[in-house]
Amino acid sequence: MLDGKKIALYVTGGIAVYKAADLARSFIKEGAEVKVAMTKSAAQFVSPLTFQILTKNAVMTNTFEETEPEVVNHIHLADWADAAVIAPATANTIAKLANGLADNFVTSALLATTAPIFVVPAMNKNMYEHPATTNNLALLKERGAYIMNPDTGFLAEGYEGKGRFPEKERIVKELTGWLKQEQVSGPLSGKRVTVTAGGTKERIDPVRYITNDSSGKMGYRLAEAARDLGATVRLITASSLPVPNGMESVAVESAQDMYEAVSEAFDSTDVLIMAAAVSDYTPAKSSNQKIKKNTGNLIIEMAQTKDILKEMGQQKTDQFLIGFAAETQNIEEYAQRKLKEKNADMIVANDVSKEDAGFNVDTNEVHLYRKEGETIYLPLADKKEIAEKILQYAVEDMKKEG
Ligand SMILES: Cc1cc2nc3c(=O)[nH]c(=O)nc-3n(C[C@H](O)[C@H](O)[C@H](O)COP(=O)(O)O)c2cc1C
Repeated sequence: MLDGKKIALYVTGGIAVYKAADLARSFIKEGAEVKVAMTKSAAQFVSPLTFQILTKNAVMTNTFEETEPEVVNHIHLADWADAAVIAPATANTIAKLANGLADNFVTSALLATTAPIFVVPAMNKNMYEHPATTNNLALLKERGAYIMNPDTGFLAEGYEGKGRFPEKERIVKELTGWLKQEQVSGPLSGKRVTVTAGGTKERIDPVRYITNDSSGKMGYRLAEAARDLGATVRLITASSLPVPNGMESVAVESAQDMYEAVSEAFDSTDVLIMAAAVSDYTPAKSSNQKIKKNTGNLIIEMAQTKDILKEMGQQKTDQFLIGFAAETQNIEEYAQRKLKEKNADMIVANDVSKEDAGFNVDTNEVHLYRKEGETIYLPLADKKEIAEKILQYAVEDMKKEG
């Protein structure tokens, strides 16, 4: 996953330094070349020799220890790297970076590097939640750094809290996805695309629910296609399919959860793709206990859920809205009506009664009804191909809308 990548691993002085040694090994296993620089505090926890043996490269700790006359070591490392990973990142080093300090090898190299910076904060819960740290991290994020969310769990201090160094698998996965996205420059570069996927589940009681046949595949292919066109993608998913690399995800269950997640994302969204099959109805009351079998029929009263596309259509400022219409009859009429009534920019309509189209299959056949153009028919194809075409027309229409 990190084939040929040159990673500068900056290790700073937290208790999780020993985990960074294993992380260096994981990067190497994934095909990367790793060079390590450590702060003096980090070297108190684990000897630089450990990292030197694991990476087969000299470990740098001292700005003034210039071993090679032809290069300045910290600038050389800064320029060499494809990615700068700070793991663990202490509150202290984060504060220095936010303020542009360069008082040791690590901070000097990090100030000099133009490589993308990936930060893995790990510290005591109170240090992590301190407004100074929160503000410093927000500032680094604003400048383009990727900030990982620490794990919540048992801290070295002997109590529970947020601040733990994440599992190495998650670090590798997020780093890989982010680097891929950083490299891509496409027609959706700089755009934030929110995609919903999957069929919502509406609880009757703790063990029973009402759902539909949507697998989430169309939404996932759209999220991947948006990512590959350079977008920053947030996938709001009711599906249990694994989340693709290189995107943020929010797992939801019910139509109400999905409404809340979309509402939260909407202000910072440029393109909203509502590919989820959101239930129109939900049990008016859901029982906290399993409903017991009684004689006679069980009648469940169903209440209407929020119409997410319509609500977002009313709230929209300059967002581009793509809705889906899964119909079994009068498709064109419903889709054209939906386009207007929901204030959408495009409706992707499919006939879900067809065997190869729509729910739970890998292929689809759709019509695109567009506010800014003629209707397009996309014949039966793999959902990946359909997703790419949908986005291609969306990009075209967004240009027309300016
Ligand atoms: C036992 C011990 C554990 C520490 N763990 C952490 C930690 O997990 N995260 C952190 O931000 N600081 C931690 N510190 C404090 C840092 O080592 C201290 O702020 C130091 O100045 C950081 O220097 P550096 O950023 O140059 O590595 C710890 C200190 C000690 C003595």
